[in-house]
Amino acid sequence: MKIAVYGAYGYQGNLVVAELSRRGIDTVLVGRNVARLQSVGTPDAERRVADTDDHDGLVAAFRGAEAVINCAGPFTVSGIPVIHAAVAAGCHYVDTSGEQLYLKQVFDTFSSDTGVTIVPGANDDCLPGDLIAALAAARVAPVEEVVIALDLTRGTSTPSRGTLRSALANLESFTTGGEVYDGGQWRPGVPVRRTSMIFPGSPEPVPVVKFALPGVATAPRHLPANWVEGVARAELVPAFSSVTPDLIDSLPEGPTAEHRRTTKFVIVVHALGTDGRRARGVVEGTDTYGTTAVIAVEAARRLAADPPRPGALAPAQAYDPTDFLNFLAPHAVTWTVEQF
Ligand SMILES: NC(=O)c1ccc[n+]([C@@H]2O[C@H](COP(=O)([O-])OP(=O)(O)OC[C@H]3O[C@@H](n4cnc5c(N)ncnc54)[C@H](OP(=O)(O)O)[C@@H]3O)[C@@H](O)[C@H]2O)c1
Repeated sequence: MKIAVYGAYGYQGNLVVAELSRRGIDTVLVGRNVARLQSVGTPDAERRVADTDDHDGLVAAFRGAEAVINCAGPFTVSGIPVIHAAVAAGCHYVDTSGEQLYLKQVFDTFSSDTGVTIVPGANDDCLPGDLIAALAAARVAPVEEVVIALDLTRGTSTPSRGTLRSALANLESFTTGGEVYDGGQWRPGVPVRRTSMIFPGSPEPVPVVKFALPGVATAPRHLPANWVEGVARAELVPAFSSVTPDLIDSLPEGPTAEHRRTTKFVIVVHALGTDGRRARGVVEGTDTYGTTAVIAVEAARRLAADPPRPGALAPAQAYDPTDFLNFLAPHAVTWTVEQF
């Protein structure tokens, strides 16, 4: 099996390339900068240069790979051309995007006649969040309302420059909290219902605010809920809303491995059934970028090894939720679902 990585020499791309090497998967390193492409992978690695405005070059770069992992964010700016090229080259596609509007655009753009499967948002919050939403909702089906909540406030790790550049490219979405899914459509400018939440490890409810989580774009693809909203622990939001280009330039490329190990990510999903029953799903893990590398590689490997139906799919449409979450257990990811 051969997997191509676009944006291979970025912070997340480096971690994905290392994970592919650990898994013993043949890799093609792709990016637009020849010199930077030399800085990643082994000296004898296969390298191909292509920019996102060069469709034929990108197709040629991906040809021969079974799948593409795209780590070149901001995806709102350059993600769609990379998918068009992957489709033309006959490659399945995953990316590490957390940009809610881009994920919606992917589902709007790519239908089932692509011949390959496209799973955007193969990262530490979208993929486990979507899978745990499916498991929690199944406990109380038919489901009426789903709340997806994120807590990233524990630990000493800071976001990568690329994460902050992606937030800047989606500033309005990040500062206004993005969209909610309401009665069959996504709508901006609608307040969320949830204002506080109990996260594992804190017995008292803590304030949460509307947040542009990618799971709001994916969960309604497979859950017949009337309402899906995304919230985050309130302390998380200032880190994104005060981003400026100068601030980004003053930061290191990304957190050190030591700092990454101290990060904890927690996703809590509340599902409310039409009959009033409630279920809660929780996913907890550490090292957001390291876990994203594990998730993106496994997501691409599964598409190549056992392709689901073609077209753009949410994680829970492409993978068995229990099986994928259990796969993550050796990587310090735990999960639970309970009815209450
Ligand atoms: N949970 C989450 O939401 C989550 C978790 C992990 C990662 N992510 C996302 O993953 C992405 C990558 O993060 P990162 O820290 O690796 O960023 P990074 O270090 O800035 O790397 C980005 C890579 O993309 C390339 N790139 C950017 N714009 C491009 C364009 N228009 N055309 C071609 N190549 C382009 C860059 O190449 P050049 O140097 O040539 O520009 C670089 O190789 C971000 O969007 C981040 O938000 C999200």
